[in-house]
Amino acid sequence: MQVLSVTSEVFPLIKTGGLADVTGALPAALKHHDVSMTTLLPGYPAVMQALENSETRHTDKNLFGGEAKLLSGKAKDLNLLVLDAPHLFARPGNPYSGADGKDWPDNAQRFAALSRVASEVALGRVGKHKVDVLHLHDWQAALAAAYVRYAEGVSNKPATVVTVHNIAFQGTFPSSVFGALGLPPHAYAMDGVEYYGNISYLKGGLASADRITTVSPTYAQEITTPEFGMGLDGLLRERRDVVSGIVNGIDDDTWNPESDKALAKTYNAKSLVSRSENKRALEKRLDLEPGDGIIHGVVSRLTWQKGLDLLAEHLDWLVGTGARLALIGTGEAAIEGAFRQAAARHKGRIGVTFAYDEGLSHLIQGGADTMLVPSRFEPCGLTQLYGLRYGCVPIVARTGGLADTVIDANVAALSSGAATGFQFSPINADTLQTVLTRAHALYADRNAWSGLQLRGMAQDVSWKASAAAYAALYKTLVQ
Ligand code: ADP
Ligand code: GLC
Repeated sequence: MQVLSVTSEVFPLIKTGGLADVTGALPAALKHHDVSMTTLLPGYPAVMQALENSETRHTDKNLFGGEAKLLSGKAKDLNLLVLDAPHLFARPGNPYSGADGKDWPDNAQRFAALSRVASEVALGRVGKHKVDVLHLHDWQAALAAAYVRYAEGVSNKPATVVTVHNIAFQGTFPSSVFGALGLPPHAYAMDGVEYYGNISYLKGGLASADRITTVSPTYAQEITTPEFGMGLDGLLRERRDVVSGIVNGIDDDTWNPESDKALAKTYNAKSLVSRSENKRALEKRLDLEPGDGIIHGVVSRLTWQKGLDLLAEHLDWLVGTGARLALIGTGEAAIEGAFRQAAARHKGRIGVTFAYDEGLSHLIQGGADTMLVPSRFEPCGLTQLYGLRYGCVPIVARTGGLADTVIDANVAALSSGAATGFQFSPINADTLQTVLTRAHALYADRNAWSGLQLRGMAQDVSWKASAAAYAALYKTLVQ
């Protein structure tokens, strides 16, 4: 079976968050299920540099204002189709925004181009690439499902799957964009791409796809409610029969404490004591005072979603308990500012780095004692999964994929030996403080704590079950 995965980012070529980890790991995981996955993505500079054995499959003289080539090739074990459209993608920095942090003004055209080309490939019109299933990730690719749905004169259309990694990002643009998309006029409708007088690429995709998935069962349920659906819950309730949740796995080669080159010392469940060498390395790296007391770790975008403002409220208290904090993240200036000020007040107790640094993110997983994820909503979340694998005990808000992947150390779960971390709800600053207090109490009991670590490390957080679930879904669509 041939699946074309369409995405705006893929690890290790270009990454701003978990989407890249997922699209980067799925192709290899699916090989065990007789699914051959090719990935179509924009030709950003980093992608063009990494592309090997490239061949031009198609040239379009005018794709949204400039010449575009469809290239095939390989990079880092990924089979790629690359949309080489310099006028849209040959830019420095981030896939979505310029150096000033503002969205590129032509994002509507950039990702419509990606989606349109994806549909043309899948419909067999360009590139001669057989596609049984077109798997579209997030709003940047979702519009392809609408292009396929509204395509005329094609007898054998591919099946379409849209995966929602985060419903907060919907690709909403003014309706004036519609004319250039090349969709028929009747696509501008309530059951098409129209969205309260604007157009929404995600909505168009969700209304058009054969199947909708999201990245955890709990989030699949949550997004059908007004509280989490961000305006799309009504549509998702209507399409409930085709919505499902498949929890993300992790790439267990990239995230393996036994072989991780970013660690000062590799370790496994039998050599957990060696973790302390990573703790020492982390202390040095973030100018933390050395010591055996608890270090909470954070690896996160610093945005409202991630709830780190709730943690910021408690930093003086946290330091007062003797705990330390190791944080790496980038994002909103106000949240960064709160952590920067606290770090200045508590030198040696709060260590922060406001940058994107893959290596340091691994060292935090391997050296900190906990992985804090106090998100207000979290479709799946990957850092708690890495935490489980690394013996970095997750402390998470009970929402979305966090609820589905961490077993709270309540009395019953501790006595039955099931607990793997801590959950708190409702999600607010008070309950966060309470869960931190619970974690500190358990940390003082070293046997109980290492029991938690070992159970977490023994959890299967690989892609095994979830790749099987995707393969099964694809199969139901092509029979
Ligand atoms: P999201 O995709 O919503 O940001 P996830 O938990 O699914 O959340 O994935 C985040 C990914 O980005 C993880 O691989 C995490 O390690 C990584 N990450 C986040 N912030 C940073 C950072 N500042 N430096 C390095 N890696 C980061
Ligand atoms: C999104 C979500 C995150 C999820 C990731 C990969 O960025 O915010 O929860 O883990 O996508 O699916």
